[in-house]
Amino acid sequence: MDKENSITNPAIIGPIIIGSDHAAFGLKEKIKNFLLSRGYVVEDVGADSENSVNYVDYGKKVANAVSEGQFSRGILLCGTGLGMSIVANRFPKVRAALCSDIFSARMSRVHNDANILVMGGRLIGDVLAFELVQTWLETEFEGGRHLERIQSIDS
Ligand code: RB5
Repeated sequence: MDKENSITNPAIIGPIIIGSDHAAFGLKEKIKNFLLSRGYVVEDVGADSENSVNYVDYGKKVANAVSEGQFSRGILLCGTGLGMSIVANRFPKVRAALCSDIFSARMSRVHNDANILVMGGRLIGDVLAFELVQTWLETEFEGGRHLERIQSIDS
């Protein structure tokens, strides 16, 4: 990604809300630092340690904030990403995409306008996670026929 994108996108996207459970606490901290180093403002709702918690509590916090329009983008992490995906997609206007490959991360933006990126901390390494986050943040929604399709989800 070029330097211009990494500077302009934080201003366009605005603050990013991030949450995890204990299983992905370490990866959440690394992603948070990655985002901060690239100029993004990050709101971290926890978890705050590797002590066992219920992923649902943290998924709800992030999904609710995105659903209500307080944040345009959110990132959720748990062991597999499955639990967070299930929780987040219960919220109106949330389009949460569980991604572990770059093509899916890109297409989740181009065709689905995904507003929450979900990853499994027990599935992917740090470098892939950073690349998924960067791709997802810097890829624009195509609109057009895809806008009609995503609008029909909530109608
Ligand atoms: C925690 O053990 C695990 O169940 C959780 O991180 C997540 O993978 C649930 O879907």
